[in-house]
Amino acid sequence: MTILVTGGAGYIGSHAVRQLAGAGRQVVVIDHLRRGHRSAVPAEVPFHECDVGDVEALVDVMRRHDVEAVMHFAAYTSVGESVESPVLYYGNNVGGSLGLLAAMREAGVRRVVFSSTAAVYGMPDAFPVAETAATTPINPYGWSKWMVERALEDERAADPSFCYAALRYFNVAGCAADGSLGEDHDPETHLIPLVILAALGRRESITVFGRDYPTPDGTCLRDYVHVDDLCAAHLLAVDQLQPGEGHRYNLGIGRPYSVQEVIDSVARVSGRTIAVVEGDRRPGDPPELWADATVARRELSWEPEYTELDAIVETAWRWFRDREEPA
Ligand SMILES: NC(=O)c1ccc[n+]([C@@H]2O[C@H](COP(=O)([O-])OP(=O)(O)OC[C@H]3O[C@@H](n4cnc5c(N)ncnc54)[C@H](O)[C@@H]3O)[C@@H](O)[C@H]2O)c1
Repeated sequence: MTILVTGGAGYIGSHAVRQLAGAGRQVVVIDHLRRGHRSAVPAEVPFHECDVGDVEALVDVMRRHDVEAVMHFAAYTSVGESVESPVLYYGNNVGGSLGLLAAMREAGVRRVVFSSTAAVYGMPDAFPVAETAATTPINPYGWSKWMVERALEDERAADPSFCYAALRYFNVAGCAADGSLGEDHDPETHLIPLVILAALGRRESITVFGRDYPTPDGTCLRDYVHVDDLCAAHLLAVDQLQPGEGHRYNLGIGRPYSVQEVIDSVARVSGRTIAVVEGDRRPGDPPELWADATVARRELSWEPEYTELDAIVETAWRWFRDREEPA
């Protein structure tokens, strides 16, 4: 079975490609490279530079490589940017996904694993968050993912041979354990890389947005899942999907860590001092967001290996440190 990975030159997609290739699976990558890196895809993996919404190109790739399933990572991913440029996000994330679905129909590819997000839950009021919680996103990014989930479910209802798993990621973090692959966003918006960059002196400081939340230390709580564990769930999902099935799975560790705990972890792992600036709360930041991932654990037999924050941070620290100070 050849698996088409969309967005395979990005952070998570490139880790998935590496894991698939490492498991001896046939894989082909498409990416338009506006936010990804060609160098993140191994030279021996077939790569096509194209937009996921380009139906003709996608059908051609699917036919040429005898694709049987898709892992669909390609999307724009910044909440803040989506608020400023909603049309860009609906166009790329929803429009692109509809192009992919049209191409899958035409090429007879009926199995897809989709990168969804905890942002579909908006501001949940009960924790941990289960898949049954209400889905009321609070920004265009979250809505764009919600809309794709809706389209997948409608496609499944329309065609009994179609199947999908929408994987709702919480905060994806860490890098390949051997330091060969990492996270390289520009601009970077994720907390762990930002704290590491501050530890390395490549940023002046890290800003803590609010210390007056109703949490044990007053800073926001989030759920950090290692990128390799996340990718392992994709392999389990793609192999287990049966025609006619549609699943939504939360992917998180199920243990919250506060912003302050992340800063403390990076300080511990790096041995460096981190300058912290106190900021106001940001509108739309839920005080806590952490997963009940028991359905994924039970139905997919998913067992994340990284359950401690320091272990996740160590893999990210190694990647950023070695890129700054090559041996
Ligand atoms: N990183 C996280 O914590 C997180 C959390 C929840 C969900 N997600 C989802 O996971 C997926 C991957 O995220 P990431 O952090 O690796 O992002 P990323 O920006 O590193 O990777 C996305 C890749 O998709 C490509 N891409 C975007 N739009 C495309 C298009 N129209 N056609 C072709 N290629 C396109 C980009 O060039 C990039 O290489 C996204 O769908 C994102 O919404 C990520």
